[in-house]
Amino acid sequence: MVKTYVRPPPMFVKGEGVYLWDIENRKYLDFTAGIAVNALGHCNPEMARIMAQQVRESTKPIPPFLTWYVQAKTLIHTSNLYHNPWIGALSELLVKKTLESGSMHNAHSVFIANSGSEANEAAIKFARKSGKVLDPSGNKFEMVSFHGAFHGRTMGSLSATPNPKYQKPFAPMLPGFKYGTYNDIAGIKELVTEQTCGVIVEPIQGEGGVIPATEEFLVALAARCREVGTVLIHDEIQCGLSRTGTFWAHASLPKEAHPDIITTAKALGNGFPIGATIVNENVSEKIVVGDHGTTFGGNPMACRLAHYIVSRLSDPKLQSDVVAKGKMFRKHFDALREKYPQVVTEVRGKGLILGLQLNQDPSPIVTAARERGLLIITAGTNTLRFVPSLTITEAEIEEGISILDEAMSVVVTPGQGPAGEQVRGEVDSPN
Ligand SMILES: Cc1ncc(COP(=O)(O)O)c(C=O)c1O
Repeated sequence: MVKTYVRPPPMFVKGEGVYLWDIENRKYLDFTAGIAVNALGHCNPEMARIMAQQVRESTKPIPPFLTWYVQAKTLIHTSNLYHNPWIGALSELLVKKTLESGSMHNAHSVFIANSGSEANEAAIKFARKSGKVLDPSGNKFEMVSFHGAFHGRTMGSLSATPNPKYQKPFAPMLPGFKYGTYNDIAGIKELVTEQTCGVIVEPIQGEGGVIPATEEFLVALAARCREVGTVLIHDEIQCGLSRTGTFWAHASLPKEAHPDIITTAKALGNGFPIGATIVNENVSEKIVVGDHGTTFGGNPMACRLAHYIVSRLSDPKLQSDVVAKGKMFRKHFDALREKYPQVVTEVRGKGLILGLQLNQDPSPIVTAARERGLLIITAGTNTLRFVPSLTITEAEIEEGISILDEAMSVVVTPGQGPAGEQVRGEVDSPN
Protein backbone atom coordinates (compact mmCIF):
# COMPACT_ATOMS: atom_id res chain seq x y z
CA MET A 1 0.00 0.00 0.00
CA VAL A 2 1.17 3.50 -0.79
CA LYS A 3 1.43 5.28 2.56
CA THR A 4 -1.25 7.92 2.22
CA TYR A 5 -2.98 7.29 5.56
CA VAL A 6 -2.01 6.83 9.21
CA ARG A 7 -4.42 4.31 10.68
CA PRO A 8 -5.11 3.42 14.32
CA PRO A 9 -4.68 -0.24 15.36
CA PRO A 10 -8.16 -1.85 14.94
CA MET A 11 -8.63 -3.94 11.80
CA PHE A 12 -12.35 -3.93 11.02
CA VAL A 13 -13.69 -7.13 9.58
CA LYS A 14 -17.45 -6.96 10.06
CA GLY A 15 -20.22 -4.36 10.21
CA GLU A 16 -23.92 -4.28 10.93
CA GLY A 17 -26.09 -1.18 11.35
CA VAL A 18 -24.11 1.35 13.40
CA TYR A 19 -21.67 -1.24 14.75
CA LEU A 20 -18.28 -2.50 13.55
CA TRP A 21 -16.27 -5.46 14.84
CA ASP A 22 -12.50 -5.72 14.71
CA ILE A 23 -10.42 -8.82 14.05
CA GLU A 24 -10.39 -9.59 17.78
CA ASN A 25 -14.18 -9.41 17.82
CA ARG A 26 -14.25 -6.14 19.77
CA LYS A 27 -17.42 -4.18 19.07
CA TYR A 28 -17.40 -0.44 18.21
CA LEU A 29 -20.25 2.03 17.89
CA ASP A 30 -19.54 3.97 14.70
CA PHE A 31 -20.31 7.72 14.78
CA THR A 32 -18.26 8.19 11.56
CA ALA A 33 -20.29 6.04 9.12
CA GLY A 34 -17.25 5.78 6.85
CA ILE A 35 -17.04 9.60 6.78
CA ALA A 36 -20.74 10.31 6.17
CA VAL A 37 -21.09 7.40 3.76
CA ASN A 38 -23.05 4.57 5.41
CA ALA A 39 -26.25 6.58 5.84
CA LEU A 40 -28.30 3.36 5.90
CA GLY A 41 -25.85 1.65 8.23
CA HIS A 42 -23.23 -1.02 7.59
CA CYS A 43 -24.19 -4.02 5.46
CA ASN A 44 -27.70 -2.92 4.65
CA PRO A 45 -29.59 -6.19 3.96
CA GLU A 46 -31.34 -4.97 0.82
CA MET A 47 -28.03 -3.82 -0.69
CA ALA A 48 -26.58 -7.23 0.10
CA ARG A 49 -29.56 -8.87 -1.60
CA ILE A 50 -29.22 -6.69 -4.73
CA MET A 51 -25.48 -7.34 -4.96
CA ALA A 52 -25.88 -11.06 -4.50
CA GLN A 53 -28.55 -11.15 -7.14
CA GLN A 54 -26.51 -9.17 -9.65
CA VAL A 55 -23.44 -11.32 -9.09
CA ARG A 56 -25.17 -14.68 -8.89
CA GLU A 57 -27.17 -14.16 -12.03
CA SER A 58 -24.32 -12.76 -14.02
CA THR A 59 -21.89 -15.55 -13.09
CA LYS A 60 -24.33 -18.38 -13.79
CA PRO A 61 -23.24 -20.48 -16.77
CA ILE A 62 -25.21 -18.99 -19.60
CA PRO A 63 -26.07 -20.95 -22.74
CA PRO A 64 -24.59 -18.95 -25.62
CA PHE A 65 -27.96 -18.44 -27.29
CA LEU A 66 -29.27 -16.78 -24.07
CA THR A 67 -26.32 -14.48 -23.40
CA TRP A 68 -27.99 -11.40 -24.81
CA TYR A 69 -31.12 -12.03 -22.79
CA VAL A 70 -29.42 -12.55 -19.42
CA GLN A 71 -27.07 -9.64 -19.97
CA ALA A 72 -30.07 -7.40 -20.62
CA LYS A 73 -31.59 -8.57 -17.33
CA THR A 74 -28.60 -8.69 -14.94
CA LEU A 75 -25.35 -6.88 -15.44
CA ILE A 76 -22.29 -5.62 -13.60
CA HIS A 77 -20.85 -3.41 -16.34
CA THR A 78 -21.17 -2.67 -20.03
CA SER A 79 -19.51 0.79 -20.31
CA ASN A 80 -21.21 3.98 -21.39
CA LEU A 81 -21.10 2.93 -25.02
CA TYR A 82 -24.49 1.30 -24.44
CA HIS A 83 -27.70 1.89 -22.53
CA ASN A 84 -28.33 -0.03 -19.35
CA PRO A 85 -31.57 -0.20 -17.38
CA TRP A 86 -30.34 1.52 -14.22
CA ILE A 87 -28.32 4.61 -15.20
CA GLY A 88 -31.41 6.28 -16.64
CA ALA A 89 -33.61 5.13 -13.76
CA LEU A 90 -31.18 6.55 -11.19
CA SER A 91 -30.78 9.84 -13.06
CA GLU A 92 -34.54 10.20 -13.33
CA LEU A 93 -35.04 9.41 -9.64
CA LEU A 94 -32.39 11.94 -8.56
CA VAL A 95 -34.06 14.65 -10.66
CA LYS A 96 -37.54 13.69 -9.45
CA LYS A 97 -36.60 13.64 -5.77
CA THR A 98 -34.70 16.92 -6.13
CA LEU A 99 -37.73 18.62 -7.69
CA GLU A 100 -40.15 17.12 -5.15
CA SER A 101 -37.94 18.24 -2.26
CA GLY A 102 -38.20 21.92 -3.15
CA SER A 103 -34.47 22.16 -3.86
CA MET A 104 -32.89 23.05 -7.25
CA HIS A 105 -36.24 23.76 -8.96
CA ASN A 106 -34.81 23.33 -12.47
CA ALA A 107 -32.87 20.07 -12.00
CA HIS A 108 -32.79 18.51 -15.45
CA SER A 109 -30.24 15.75 -15.99
CA VAL A 110 -27.41 13.82 -14.35
CA PHE A 111 -23.86 12.66 -15.06
CA ILE A 112 -22.94 9.56 -13.06
CA ALA A 113 -19.32 9.14 -11.91
CA ASN A 114 -17.50 6.98 -9.33
CA SER A 115 -16.63 9.33 -6.47
CA GLY A 116 -17.07 12.78 -5.03
CA SER A 117 -13.91 14.16 -6.60
CA GLU A 118 -15.06 12.91 -9.98
CA ALA A 119 -18.51 14.44 -9.54
CA ASN A 120 -16.80 17.78 -8.80
CA GLU A 121 -14.36 17.31 -11.67
CA ALA A 122 -17.35 16.96 -14.01
CA ALA A 123 -18.97 20.06 -12.46
CA ILE A 124 -15.78 22.10 -12.95
CA LYS A 125 -15.50 20.95 -16.58
CA PHE A 126 -19.17 21.79 -17.19
CA ALA A 127 -18.59 25.27 -15.73
CA ARG A 128 -15.53 25.78 -17.94
CA LYS A 129 -17.50 24.63 -20.98
CA SER A 130 -20.31 26.95 -20.08
CA GLY A 131 -17.82 29.84 -19.86
CA LYS A 132 -16.46 28.93 -23.32
CA VAL A 133 -19.93 28.92 -24.84
CA LEU A 134 -20.89 32.24 -23.24
CA ASP A 135 -17.58 33.90 -24.10
CA PRO A 136 -15.81 32.21 -27.03
CA SER A 137 -12.79 34.51 -26.55
CA GLY A 138 -11.76 32.14 -23.72
CA ASN A 139 -11.65 34.83 -21.03
CA LYS A 140 -14.42 33.35 -18.90
CA PHE A 141 -12.46 30.51 -17.31
CA GLU A 142 -11.99 31.41 -13.65
CA MET A 143 -13.28 29.14 -10.90
CA VAL A 144 -14.07 30.44 -7.42
CA SER A 145 -14.11 28.45 -4.20
CA PHE A 146 -13.75 29.28 -0.50
CA HIS A 147 -11.21 28.95 2.27
CA GLY A 148 -12.00 25.98 4.49
CA ALA A 149 -13.55 24.08 1.58
CA PHE A 150 -12.85 20.50 0.67
CA HIS A 151 -13.77 19.41 -2.85
CA GLY A 152 -11.47 16.44 -3.49
CA ARG A 153 -8.02 15.21 -4.45
CA THR A 154 -8.01 15.14 -8.26
CA MET A 155 -6.15 18.10 -9.78
CA GLY A 156 -9.34 20.04 -10.63
CA SER A 157 -11.11 19.41 -7.34
CA LEU A 158 -7.82 19.91 -5.45
CA SER A 159 -7.32 23.27 -7.18
CA ALA A 160 -10.70 24.24 -5.68
CA THR A 161 -9.55 23.11 -2.21
CA PRO A 162 -7.42 25.97 -0.86
CA ASN A 163 -5.78 24.07 1.97
CA PRO A 164 -1.97 24.28 1.86
CA LYS A 165 -1.70 20.84 3.49
CA TYR A 166 -3.36 19.25 0.45
CA GLN A 167 -2.21 21.63 -2.32
CA LYS A 168 1.40 22.48 -1.51
CA PRO A 169 3.02 19.11 -2.33
CA PHE A 170 1.35 19.14 -5.76
CA ALA A 171 1.71 22.78 -6.78
CA PRO A 172 1.23 24.40 -9.14
CA MET A 173 -2.52 24.12 -9.15
CA LEU A 174 -4.58 24.53 -12.33
CA PRO A 175 -4.67 28.09 -13.63
CA GLY A 176 -7.67 30.32 -12.95
CA PHE A 177 -8.68 29.21 -9.44
CA LYS A 178 -9.51 32.01 -6.98
CA TYR A 179 -10.41 31.73 -3.31
CA GLY A 180 -12.73 33.84 -1.21
CA THR A 181 -13.75 34.02 2.43
CA TYR A 182 -16.68 31.78 3.34
CA ASN A 183 -19.71 33.75 4.53
CA ASP A 184 -18.14 37.08 3.50
CA ILE A 185 -20.93 38.80 1.58
CA ALA A 186 -18.99 42.02 1.07
CA GLY A 187 -16.19 40.20 -0.75
CA ILE A 188 -18.42 38.50 -3.34
CA LYS A 189 -18.56 41.30 -5.89
CA GLU A 190 -14.82 41.52 -6.33
CA LEU A 191 -14.39 37.76 -6.21
CA VAL A 192 -16.98 36.74 -8.78
CA THR A 193 -16.59 38.70 -12.02
CA GLU A 194 -17.35 38.53 -15.74
CA GLN A 195 -14.30 36.21 -15.99
CA THR A 196 -15.78 33.70 -13.55
CA CYS A 197 -17.19 30.61 -15.24
CA GLY A 198 -18.03 28.73 -12.02
CA VAL A 199 -18.36 29.05 -8.26
CA ILE A 200 -18.26 25.95 -6.05
CA VAL A 201 -19.44 26.04 -2.45
CA GLU A 202 -20.44 23.59 0.30
CA PRO A 203 -23.70 24.63 2.01
CA ILE A 204 -22.06 23.18 5.14
CA GLN A 205 -18.28 22.80 5.14
CA GLY A 206 -17.65 19.28 6.44
CA GLU A 207 -13.90 18.73 6.46
CA GLY A 208 -13.50 22.46 7.14
CA GLY A 209 -14.98 21.97 10.63
CA VAL A 210 -18.77 21.56 10.16
CA ILE A 211 -19.33 25.22 9.33
CA PRO A 212 -22.69 26.15 7.82
CA ALA A 213 -22.93 28.88 5.18
CA THR A 214 -25.38 31.58 6.17
CA GLU A 215 -28.51 31.80 4.08
CA GLU A 216 -27.74 35.46 3.29
CA PHE A 217 -24.32 34.47 1.94
CA LEU A 218 -25.73 31.75 -0.33
CA VAL A 219 -28.45 34.11 -1.58
CA ALA A 220 -25.95 36.89 -2.32
CA LEU A 221 -23.59 34.44 -4.02
CA ALA A 222 -26.35 33.14 -6.27
CA ALA A 223 -27.46 36.68 -7.15
CA ARG A 224 -23.92 37.61 -8.18
CA CYS A 225 -23.57 34.40 -10.23
CA ARG A 226 -26.79 35.22 -12.13
CA GLU A 227 -25.59 38.80 -12.68
CA VAL A 228 -22.34 37.79 -14.39
CA GLY A 229 -23.45 34.49 -16.00
CA THR A 230 -21.56 32.13 -13.68
CA VAL A 231 -22.46 28.50 -13.02
CA LEU A 232 -23.19 28.00 -9.30
CA ILE A 233 -22.20 24.57 -7.96
CA HIS A 234 -23.33 23.30 -4.57
CA ASP A 235 -21.05 20.52 -3.36
CA GLU A 236 -23.46 18.42 -1.27
CA ILE A 237 -21.21 15.37 -1.23
CA GLN A 238 -21.03 15.32 2.56
CA CYS A 239 -24.06 17.37 3.65
CA GLY A 240 -26.65 16.21 1.09
CA LEU A 241 -28.98 13.21 0.72
CA SER A 242 -30.99 13.98 3.88
CA ARG A 243 -28.07 14.31 6.29
CA THR A 244 -29.39 17.71 7.40
CA GLY A 245 -33.00 16.47 7.47
CA THR A 246 -33.93 17.67 3.96
CA PHE A 247 -33.03 15.87 0.74
CA TRP A 248 -30.51 18.61 -0.10
CA ALA A 249 -29.00 20.96 2.46
CA HIS A 250 -29.98 24.07 0.47
CA ALA A 251 -33.73 23.26 0.63
CA SER A 252 -34.59 26.35 2.67
CA LEU A 253 -33.14 28.77 0.10
CA PRO A 254 -35.48 30.80 -2.10
CA LYS A 255 -35.83 29.51 -5.66
CA GLU A 256 -33.65 32.24 -7.16
CA ALA A 257 -30.75 31.16 -4.94
CA HIS A 258 -30.81 27.52 -6.06
CA PRO A 259 -27.62 26.16 -7.63
CA ASP A 260 -27.16 25.28 -11.32
CA ILE A 261 -25.31 22.10 -10.36
CA ILE A 262 -25.43 19.81 -7.31
CA THR A 263 -22.67 17.29 -6.75
CA THR A 264 -23.23 14.20 -4.62
CA ALA A 265 -21.40 10.98 -3.67
CA LYS A 266 -20.64 9.40 -0.22
CA ALA A 267 -24.16 8.32 0.98
CA LEU A 268 -25.27 7.84 -2.63
CA GLY A 269 -23.64 4.41 -2.64
CA ASN A 270 -23.76 3.69 1.12
CA GLY A 271 -20.22 2.37 0.59
CA PHE A 272 -20.42 1.30 -3.07
CA PRO A 273 -18.34 3.73 -5.18
CA ILE A 274 -20.54 6.20 -7.07
CA GLY A 275 -20.90 9.97 -7.50
CA ALA A 276 -23.28 12.16 -9.46
CA THR A 277 -23.45 15.65 -10.97
CA ILE A 278 -27.00 16.99 -11.27
CA VAL A 279 -27.36 19.90 -13.71
CA ASN A 280 -30.08 22.26 -14.90
CA GLU A 281 -31.00 22.67 -18.55
CA ASN A 282 -28.88 25.77 -18.97
CA VAL A 283 -25.78 23.73 -18.20
CA SER A 284 -26.97 20.54 -19.85
CA GLU A 285 -27.58 22.18 -23.23
CA LYS A 286 -23.94 23.36 -23.38
CA ILE A 287 -22.50 19.87 -23.02
CA VAL A 288 -22.16 17.90 -26.24
CA VAL A 289 -21.22 14.31 -27.04
CA GLY A 290 -17.56 13.67 -26.27
CA ASP A 291 -17.17 16.56 -23.78
CA HIS A 292 -16.82 14.20 -20.80
CA GLY A 293 -16.78 10.50 -20.08
CA THR A 294 -16.00 7.65 -17.70
CA THR A 295 -15.47 3.92 -18.09
CA PHE A 296 -16.99 2.66 -14.83
CA GLY A 297 -19.37 5.55 -14.08
CA GLY A 298 -23.04 4.68 -14.46
CA ASN A 299 -22.57 0.93 -14.39
CA PRO A 300 -25.81 -0.96 -13.67
CA MET A 301 -24.57 -2.46 -10.41
CA ALA A 302 -23.74 0.89 -8.78
CA CYS A 303 -26.80 2.60 -10.25
CA ARG A 304 -29.22 -0.10 -9.13
CA LEU A 305 -27.83 0.11 -5.59
CA ALA A 306 -27.93 3.91 -5.60
CA HIS A 307 -31.50 3.80 -6.91
CA TYR A 308 -32.52 1.79 -3.87
CA ILE A 309 -30.50 4.06 -1.53
CA VAL A 310 -31.98 7.29 -2.93
CA SER A 311 -35.50 5.89 -2.61
CA ARG A 312 -34.79 5.12 1.07
CA LEU A 313 -32.96 8.37 1.88
CA SER A 314 -35.67 10.54 0.31
CA ASP A 315 -38.31 9.12 2.68
CA PRO A 316 -39.91 12.03 4.61
CA LYS A 317 -40.13 9.89 7.78
CA LEU A 318 -36.38 9.21 7.68
CA GLN A 319 -35.85 12.95 7.21
CA SER A 320 -38.01 14.01 10.15
CA ASP A 321 -36.26 11.36 12.26
CA VAL A 322 -32.90 12.88 11.28
CA VAL A 323 -34.09 16.26 12.58
CA ALA A 324 -35.23 14.69 15.88
CA LYS A 325 -31.99 12.73 16.29
CA GLY A 326 -29.97 15.86 15.52
CA LYS A 327 -31.82 17.67 18.32
CA MET A 328 -31.07 14.80 20.66
CA PHE A 329 -27.35 14.98 19.85
CA ARG A 330 -27.42 18.73 20.44
CA LYS A 331 -29.10 18.36 23.80
CA HIS A 332 -26.29 16.01 24.87
CA PHE A 333 -23.62 18.28 23.37
CA ASP A 334 -25.01 21.26 25.28
CA ALA A 335 -24.72 19.17 28.46
CA LEU A 336 -21.12 18.26 27.59
CA ARG A 337 -20.39 21.90 26.98
CA GLU A 338 -21.70 22.75 30.42
CA LYS A 339 -19.72 19.92 31.98
CA TYR A 340 -16.44 20.71 30.18
CA PRO A 341 -16.64 24.49 29.59
CA GLN A 342 -12.87 24.74 29.61
CA VAL A 343 -12.66 22.56 26.46
CA VAL A 344 -15.95 22.70 24.50
CA THR A 345 -16.50 26.14 23.01
CA GLU A 346 -19.25 25.69 20.40
CA VAL A 347 -21.75 23.22 18.92
CA ARG A 348 -22.38 23.55 15.16
CA GLY A 349 -24.17 21.86 12.29
CA LYS A 350 -27.60 20.62 11.31
CA GLY A 351 -29.41 17.28 11.48
CA LEU A 352 -26.77 14.56 11.63
CA ILE A 353 -23.75 16.55 10.50
CA LEU A 354 -22.57 18.06 13.75
CA GLY A 355 -19.39 19.55 15.13
CA LEU A 356 -18.19 20.01 18.66
CA GLN A 357 -15.61 22.78 18.68
CA LEU A 358 -12.83 22.26 21.21
CA ASN A 359 -10.10 24.69 22.07
CA GLN A 360 -7.53 21.89 22.24
CA ASP A 361 -6.22 19.06 20.09
CA PRO A 362 -9.08 16.51 20.03
CA SER A 363 -6.81 13.51 19.27
CA PRO A 364 -6.61 12.24 22.90
CA ILE A 365 -10.42 12.24 23.15
CA VAL A 366 -10.74 10.40 19.81
CA THR A 367 -8.23 7.80 21.02
CA ALA A 368 -9.84 7.41 24.46
CA ALA A 369 -13.28 7.03 22.84
CA ARG A 370 -12.00 4.40 20.40
CA GLU A 371 -10.39 2.46 23.24
CA ARG A 372 -13.85 2.39 24.86
CA GLY A 373 -15.61 1.26 21.67
CA LEU A 374 -16.73 4.53 20.02
CA LEU A 375 -15.47 5.80 16.66
CA ILE A 376 -15.44 9.57 16.01
CA ILE A 377 -13.48 11.73 13.59
CA THR A 378 -12.15 15.24 13.56
CA ALA A 379 -12.44 18.16 11.16
CA GLY A 380 -11.14 21.69 10.68
CA THR A 381 -9.19 23.02 13.63
CA ASN A 382 -9.83 21.03 16.82
CA THR A 383 -13.39 20.04 15.86
CA LEU A 384 -14.94 16.69 16.71
CA ARG A 385 -17.18 15.71 13.79
CA PHE A 386 -20.29 13.53 14.10
CA VAL A 387 -21.71 12.04 10.91
CA PRO A 388 -23.34 8.75 11.98
CA SER A 389 -25.71 6.57 9.98
CA LEU A 390 -29.03 8.31 9.53
CA THR A 391 -30.72 5.14 10.77
CA ILE A 392 -29.04 5.35 14.17
CA THR A 393 -31.49 4.85 17.06
CA GLU A 394 -32.00 6.99 20.14
CA ALA A 395 -30.58 4.22 22.34
CA GLU A 396 -27.44 4.07 20.18
CA ILE A 397 -27.03 7.83 20.42
CA GLU A 398 -27.28 7.60 24.23
CA GLU A 399 -24.77 4.76 24.27
CA GLY A 400 -22.26 6.72 22.16
CA ILE A 401 -22.66 9.92 24.14
CA SER A 402 -22.02 8.15 27.44
CA ILE A 403 -18.79 6.68 25.99
CA LEU A 404 -17.81 10.12 24.73
CA ASP A 405 -18.51 11.60 28.16
CA GLU A 406 -16.35 8.95 29.78
CA ALA A 407 -13.55 9.52 27.25
CA MET A 408 -13.67 13.24 27.92
CA SER A 409 -13.69 12.72 31.67
CA VAL A 410 -10.47 10.72 31.57
CA VAL A 411 -8.72 13.08 29.16
CA VAL A 412 -9.90 16.43 30.46
CA THR A 413 -8.77 17.52 33.90
CA PRO A 414 -11.53 19.64 35.49
CA GLY A 415 -10.68 23.30 35.21
CA GLN A 416 -7.97 22.67 32.61
CA GLY A 417 -7.63 21.59 28.99
CA PRO A 418 -7.07 17.95 27.94
CA ALA A 419 -4.65 16.16 30.25
CA GLY A 420 -2.77 12.89 30.23
CA GLU A 421 -0.83 11.34 27.42
CA GLN A 422 -1.55 13.23 24.21
CA VAL A 423 -1.31 11.22 21.02
CA ARG A 424 -0.84 14.02 18.55
CA GLY A 425 -1.10 13.49 14.83
CA GLU A 426 -2.59 10.02 15.05
CA VAL A 427 -5.96 11.29 13.99
CA ASP A 428 -6.04 13.53 10.96
CA SER A 429 -9.04 15.29 9.40
CA PRO A 430 -9.50 12.68 6.71
CA ASN A 431 -12.17 14.41 4.54
C1 LIG B 1 -17.67 18.12 0.46
C2 LIG B 1 -16.81 17.08 -0.20
N1 LIG B 1 -16.55 17.19 -1.52
C3 LIG B 1 -15.78 16.26 -2.15
C4 LIG B 1 -15.24 15.20 -1.49
C5 LIG B 1 -14.39 14.21 -2.24
O1 LIG B 1 -15.07 13.01 -2.36
P1 LIG B 1 -14.26 11.65 -2.66
O2 LIG B 1 -13.41 11.37 -1.48
O3 LIG B 1 -15.35 10.62 -2.88
O4 LIG B 1 -13.48 11.86 -3.91
C6 LIG B 1 -15.48 15.06 -0.12
C7 LIG B 1 -14.86 13.96 0.65
O5 LIG B 1 -14.71 14.01 1.83
C8 LIG B 1 -16.28 16.02 0.55
O6 LIG B 1 -16.54 15.94 1.86
